[in-house]
Amino acid sequence: MDVIQTRDELQRWIGERRDRKRVLVPTMGALHRGHTSLFDRAAEIAGANGDVLATIFVNPTQFGPNEDFDAYPRQLKDDLAQCEAHGVTAIFAPEPDEMYEANASISINESRLSTHLCGASRPGHFDGVCLVVAKLFILTQANVAVFGEKDFQQLAIIRRLVRDLNFPIEIVGGETVREPDGLAMSSRNAYLSPEDRRAAPVIQQALREASLGITDGKIATPQEALAAMRNTIEETRGATIDYLAVVDAASLEPLDKFGMAQARLLAAVFFGKTRLIDNIGVPGSVS
Ligand code: PAF
Repeated sequence: MDVIQTRDELQRWIGERRDRKRVLVPTMGALHRGHTSLFDRAAEIAGANGDVLATIFVNPTQFGPNEDFDAYPRQLKDDLAQCEAHGVTAIFAPEPDEMYEANASISINESRLSTHLCGASRPGHFDGVCLVVAKLFILTQANVAVFGEKDFQQLAIIRRLVRDLNFPIEIVGGETVREPDGLAMSSRNAYLSPEDRRAAPVIQQALREASLGITDGKIATPQEALAAMRNTIEETRGATIDYLAVVDAASLEPLDKFGMAQARLLAAVFFGKTRLIDNIGVPGSVS
């Protein structure tokens, strides 16, 4: 596995492998099974004649002034071992000044999909994600990029970035990896108290019950789906809802009825200070 730190080295590496399919998996490191499943998916897509290029970069522009960029876990040695074990061909792990000029003055603004859901409590966050992801698409010239479905709003915004700025790249969503009790894998799960850890799978339970209810016809409207999810989560000690939403999976616009769009159910729930997110599709939600 090659470890690349500068843009010049990256361009040389790309030059030597010009005819091979390149599958990109952008990460901020602190890797867990949620990430390694994305590497496995990328390796499948790359096949024998392709490469998996993972990036590890804690991106300063997606952290707000009150979010602790400096405290974000950095564990490059352990991350490299996990990449190696999951078929990654090369890692691009640049320093911030390799990615951003000190007096950079061009930015990207996403003005629709990022205004609500997680974007409501993190102003500017998705603009920073769009900026770094656009730079990574340009620098790596990848054919395909894989992003986790767990961050569903991020995935939808990146699809929009590709559509609106005409990036010649295919975006693939990687399925959420779960603990045996259904809790979506996240580095934040480690911050939960034992009691909250036992309660946290209620998020997935509420989403799954609502999704099944819609498919079975027991839940007829988005309002009923929201009420059902709210009841299940509010019955759980320690759980405080940040948001629940029933949206069009592509535009993230709230739905007021089923049948016209692919529906997605999204939830963000606090346990103590830890905010967990999850989401689920609704098979057969388009008629
Ligand atoms: O999902 C993440 O880890 C980050 O937002 C990403 C896509 C790597 C951009 O920094």
